[in-house]
Amino acid sequence: MSGRSLNKISILSGDGIGPEVITQALKVLTAVEIKYSIKWTIEHALIGACAIDATGDPFPEASLIACQSADAILLGAIGDPKYDNDPSALIRPEQGLLRMRKALGLFANIRPVKIYNQLLHLSVFKPEILKDVDFVIYRELTGGIYFGEKIKEATYSSDLCLYHRYEIERITHLAFQQAMTRKKKLTLVDKANVLETSRLWRSVVKELSDQYPEVTLDFLFIDNAAMQVILNPSRFDVVLCDNLFGDILSDEASVLSGSMGLLPSASKGDTSALYEPIHGSYPQAAGKDIANPLATILSVEMMLRDFGYFLEADDILKSVDKCIADGFLTEDLRPQVSFKCSEVGDKVAGLIFKNK
Ligand code: IPM
Ligand code: MG
Repeated sequence: MSGRSLNKISILSGDGIGPEVITQALKVLTAVEIKYSIKWTIEHALIGACAIDATGDPFPEASLIACQSADAILLGAIGDPKYDNDPSALIRPEQGLLRMRKALGLFANIRPVKIYNQLLHLSVFKPEILKDVDFVIYRELTGGIYFGEKIKEATYSSDLCLYHRYEIERITHLAFQQAMTRKKKLTLVDKANVLETSRLWRSVVKELSDQYPEVTLDFLFIDNAAMQVILNPSRFDVVLCDNLFGDILSDEASVLSGSMGLLPSASKGDTSALYEPIHGSYPQAAGKDIANPLATILSVEMMLRDFGYFLEADDILKSVDKCIADGFLTEDLRPQVSFKCSEVGDKVAGLIFKNK
């Protein structure tokens, strides 16, 4: 990843609200291009239920090629209730996402959890709980129970959770390196009192911690971690999890910020990088122009920062902060007097031009 420059961006809008939030993110990206005289090449490709409808495959070969030839990928969301409610469906939108992660080697999923002071009054949490909350989840993304052997028989099923040392080592290094740039604290979340894979995670992470003596390492069982995210979230700095625990803990953590619609993410491998909101396709809202586009806009911010566009990324952050401060909020945050998804997109894009 590092050292690579950003020329081509593949856009995978996906399903449900995906296309709407991506449209807003592209407005912001275009505003940045105009203001800073940059031109990125954009290529659209299919993933998820819309790809099944069009080609029979949730991640067709053409999409893989588009992603492989891009420097970065921006994804909306995937998923459709017609598959969620049909356990017998053999082809599913999620398979496209998982195949993409695996094929592109996107082993590290990074999900920052940030609190906006302007939204504190809207939170279900007491302000003192949210004070100083600022952490980032490093979720392993191409191994574990998501990818182990699956067995489906008439009277039983099984999902194997398998981890190799190298899969743990590579994300652990990234998590420690991130901790070095932050509060120098790393928490491994696992279930080492029960699971062999968790015990392997503990021993590998402990071993590697010798290379990062300045970082304080601690361990939490997932059940306790789920509780601490709510009781004492400011205790976390960098949180390292396997694939399944990271999936669950990141949805839970998003509630701290006020809405899932605010959390962006990055997924990184050795040769690819993908940016996407952590939320799903929210099919009930699809086509209604009510989804929160900020998580996708903030995913663009993460993308630009990763590729060294610091001024441009700061500009997006500043615009999002101002949009929130001015109360330009979608209905997930402000049910009574809310703004449309497209209005929030216009607002943030407009602010890019106004910022000095
Ligand atoms: C996520 C999502 C996916 C996951 C689903 C859609 C397969 O929940 O990115 O967190 O479980 O990884
Ligand atoms: Mg999830």
